[in-house]
Amino acid sequence: MALSRRLAIIAGGLGGLGSATGKILRSQGAWLALLYAPFEANRTKELLRKGYGKDFAPEEIRTYECDITSPSSVQSAFARYPQIWPRGMRPRQRRRSRAFSRRWKHLNTKLLGPMLCSQAFARLYLAVAKAAAPTAAPPGRIVSVSSQAAHVALWKHGAYCTSKAGLMGLTRNMASEWGPKGITANTVSPTVAWTELG
Ligand SMILES: NC(=O)c1ccc[n+]([C@@H]2O[C@H](COP(=O)([O-])OP(=O)(O)OC[C@H]3O[C@@H](n4cnc5c(N)ncnc54)[C@H](OP(=O)(O)O)[C@@H]3O)[C@@H](O)[C@H]2O)c1
Repeated sequence: MALSRRLAIIAGGLGGLGSATGKILRSQGAWLALLYAPFEANRTKELLRKGYGKDFAPEEIRTYECDITSPSSVQSAFARYPQIWPRGMRPRQRRRSRAFSRRWKHLNTKLLGPMLCSQAFARLYLAVAKAAAPTAAPPGRIVSVSSQAAHVALWKHGAYCTSKAGLMGLTRNMASEWGPKGITANTVSPTVAWTELG
């Protein structure tokens, strides 16, 4: 079979699309490591049976509780799969947690920050526009600073690229939801400028 001796690790592997995908991979011979969320812990057996039936050996499908938003939970789930790490090799915890906080800072500042500011602005604008009626309020404008990193891959800048691409998704949504209410939303994507950050 095409996937015999291959391991598929599926986050959300007990969910709808996860188990549908897992079933196909299984039918091609892959063994499965299914990560499920802590809040699914008391339904694991039921979901496993629903998604995969009963016709498999225990080593062919293993399940692991894993909160994919927690670095330590992800690390421990990956470390627990039998024999997946060569002897004596384990991820280095301290370096990884520092790297995580750097990534988290990018996502917080460059994605969550614009989201919070834009929402606060929209609430304010809509309240002011309502109070000004029947006189039409001037249009509201949201201009967020994205980056070339939203469009191309920047080496070793995964979290930064993610935050800027996410900002563009957010902007499309804001434009579509708030456009009819008088607020436009756009991004600009500068290249490198020699600021503190640059
Ligand atoms: N420079 C480039 O090459 C370049 C290229 C493309 C896109 N951009 C984007 O352009 C934007 C501005 O970048 P820049 O080069 O002007 O960077 P910058 O010189 O470092 O300025 C960023 C500003 O944001 C403030 N800031 C950081 N975290 C904050 C928080 N949690 N709450 C409030 N303010 C916060 C910083 O304050 P502190 O100084 O106190 O930290 C600083 O004043 C960023 O979104 C960046 O990703 C920059």
